Amino acid sequence: MSEPLAQLTGIAEKLLIGKFHRHVFLCIGNSCCSAEAGAAAWEVLKKELKDRNLSLSEGPAACYRTKVQCLRVCTGGPILVVYPEGTWYGGMTADRIPRFVQEHLVDGNPITEWVFARNPLPNPG
Ligand code: FES
Repeated sequence: MSEPLAQLTGIAEKLLIGKFHRHVFLCIGNSCCSAEAGAAAWEVLKKELKDRNLSLSEGPAACYRTKVQCLRVCTGGPILVVYPEGTWYGGMTADRIPRFVQEHLVDGNPITEWVFARNPLPNPG
């Protein structure tokens, strides 16, 4: 293995890439929401995942998190999408994040009143 690839493999192991069951992408704006609203939602998401031991975890609800600057929806944000379910949420301001983490990520029940689209992967077609 080349040196750069070996370095990346080591980083992936530290991040437990290969162990998580979900990946959450949160758009931090600033077209779907203000940069302030996006940043606030991101901070709460990080804290909730850490407090519930979902981030950097090997448990059944282990979840990787990524902040992004656009998911191409660009209104009604912060926009958040969870894979592999492909559940797309709108209006995910900081106050909604704790309920989302508990009900969707821990209990496995998407909050349907906040969901505007679904695209599970692999797509059952
Ligand atoms: S800026 Fe958030 S979806 Fe485009």
